[in-house]
Amino acid sequence: MRPHLAAAPPPSVRVRAPGKVNLSLRVGPVQEDGFHPLATIFQAVALFEDVTATQVAPGAGVSLTVDGPQAGLVPLDATNLAWRAADLLAQHTGVPADVALHVTKGVPVAGGMAGGSADAAAALVACDALWDTGVSRSELAMLAAELGSDVPFPLMGHTAVGTGRGQLLTPAMTRGEFHWAFAVQAEGLSTPRVFAAYDELTGGTGPAPDPAMDSALMSALRAGDPIALGAALHNDLQEAALTLRPHLAEVLDVAQEAGALGAMVSGSGPTVAALGRSRRHALAIAATWTARGVSDSVWCATAPAHGARVVAPGPALR
Ligand code: C5P
Repeated sequence: MRPHLAAAPPPSVRVRAPGKVNLSLRVGPVQEDGFHPLATIFQAVALFEDVTATQVAPGAGVSLTVDGPQAGLVPLDATNLAWRAADLLAQHTGVPADVALHVTKGVPVAGGMAGGSADAAAALVACDALWDTGVSRSELAMLAAELGSDVPFPLMGHTAVGTGRGQLLTPAMTRGEFHWAFAVQAEGLSTPRVFAAYDELTGGTGPAPDPAMDSALMSALRAGDPIALGAALHNDLQEAALTLRPHLAEVLDVAQEAGALGAMVSGSGPTVAALGRSRRHALAIAATWTARGVSDSVWCATAPAHGARVVAPGPALR
């Protein structure tokens, strides 16, 4: 009798990329291209998106499936940033865009934590490995910036100063680990809507954003001092997010009552990030939010976290 031969699984690559908080987000007046000049400090947090890229038959095209706590909120078509990343890399390198993508979401959706951007960064790295296109990290960062202002950062991870639209990155020195709690709302906020609300509040005027204004924050990072970091957190978009979601003021108040070293809207919101003294304190802040019924879910994570990296190459790629 011939032995039964199981078909070998198709080659696949799994890549993990982090979500982020903006420790500081300084926004200048809107430019003619519709974008705002930023001076921001990104910190990657240990909430991760996993993207698996699996080989499919030639001509099969791109397909996408998603799982995770908020998977139902994610588009499954060519508008998805992970799908767009695969298309862009294929176009850039001249390989056929044939791949099955699977995303496991671990970052809040439309929460101001760049979960979709992390998917795009992870998809770039995963498809580059699967297709053996050998694109350098700096070229991947360039492609990432074409996909969105927040996409280059999850490629790099850790902590970085972002200028331009947020896509020009310089790594920042940090020491130790910081402990965050996140109050997540079921309904996300659209980033363009928050920027538009910001324009209304400022009348489209104001000084250019200046990274030098964050020198106290940078010192706190270098010293690994969470108390100084908590005092230096800053978000120019917070008021705009509060105008659209007045209820977030209560989430911020409850974090202060729970002794947070600092609390702010994360990026364009509606997630609120609060800095704890320790892992246990971050859990206590999260528990207080839950007890007071001010958020739909609560998440905790340490930071900084690593950038996009392969976590599981399939057998044929080892
Ligand atoms: O770059 P990205 O596609 O993520 O930007 C989404 C939207 O967010 C832009 O269309 C723009 O409305 C707003 N945005 C901005 N200024 C930035 C980044 C984003 O106004 N620096």
